[in-house]
Amino acid sequence: MILITGGAGYIGSHTNKLLNSEGYETVVVDNLVKGYESFVKWGSFENCDFGSSKLRDVFEKYDIEGVIHFAAFSSVAESVEIPQKYFKNNYKNTLNLLKIMREFNVDKFIFSSTASVYGIPEKVPITEDQLLKPINPYGHSKWITEKALEREAEKGDFNYVSLRYFNAAGCDFDCEIGELHDPETHLIPLVLDAAIGNRESVSIFGTDYNTPDGTCIRDYIHVNDLASAHIEAYKYLCEENKSNVFNLGNGEGYSVREVIDMCKKVTEKDFKVEITDRREGDPDILIADSSKIRNELGWQPEYDLETIVKSAWMWHQKINSI
Ligand code: UFG
Repeated sequence: MILITGGAGYIGSHTNKLLNSEGYETVVVDNLVKGYESFVKWGSFENCDFGSSKLRDVFEKYDIEGVIHFAAFSSVAESVEIPQKYFKNNYKNTLNLLKIMREFNVDKFIFSSTASVYGIPEKVPITEDQLLKPINPYGHSKWITEKALEREAEKGDFNYVSLRYFNAAGCDFDCEIGELHDPETHLIPLVLDAAIGNRESVSIFGTDYNTPDGTCIRDYIHVNDLASAHIEAYKYLCEENKSNVFNLGNGEGYSVREVIDMCKKVTEKDFKVEITDRREGDPDILIADSSKIRNELGWQPEYDLETIVKSAWMWHQKINSI
């Protein structure tokens, strides 16, 4: 059985769904601070904080062979305001999880890392061997956790795969689960919120970046492509006795303006777009070089930006019609 921390959240619930559809047994551990119980539609569920001693009871109760660790705080802006919250939950609580895994001889671990560990990249597309220089506490908390995993693996009888996500987007095509953050800060759901009429306008945070249209470029990857990469990573841990780190992106960049135009095309709605000041800590361009995961795990992303936006729009319409 695979234990999924944060399986009631956005990426965790999509991965839980795919794992179950492929015949894996899962138990979701989530304290529901950011997640939704209604997103746990597959496998077992334990309402538990992964940083608490109660987690030991979960390991007692289930026959756990591996852990996929999504649970974390992930707002860059909040991490700048309250860094301790990020270091405690994302780093220190992960050490608790690793300690309990050792006690129960669970040796396979998949970690949700982030492109934020690179900070301002030296060159794009970004390869995994670039220097890690996070520029905010969120990225920093993930970076030191990657370091802790390296040490853990060096001790032996433990392997991990760290997946550095670029911009997760899109939703389940059946609309059983989707993206629901409170507060929402991500570009695509905010733009769709304007398309549906919940907000008057969309803000572009800066048009003076060093990019062709002056707005930031990001690598958007469909959440189901992220989910399938976790399954390939898990198979890798079962077959090979080693650890690894992979970027997880489409390898293609889109500017904020291009994303907004795509949302207008898909939704066939027009809405006001305002230019505002830069948001602190946004690098000009983040695009993954994803050749390592393609070559070593045989993983391929299936969905392009248009499909990402279409799936997000279906979900957005569903939650706004209830
Ligand atoms: N943006 C706007 N207006 C908005 C919201 C966002 O212009 O209303 C811009 C941002 O400035 C950025 C781009 O749209 O340039 C994407 O912003 P998101 O907030 O959707 O995503 P980020 O790139 O800031 O961050 C996401 C995750 C991080 C992760 C990072 C890795 O939230 O956790 O991708 O690339 F680390």
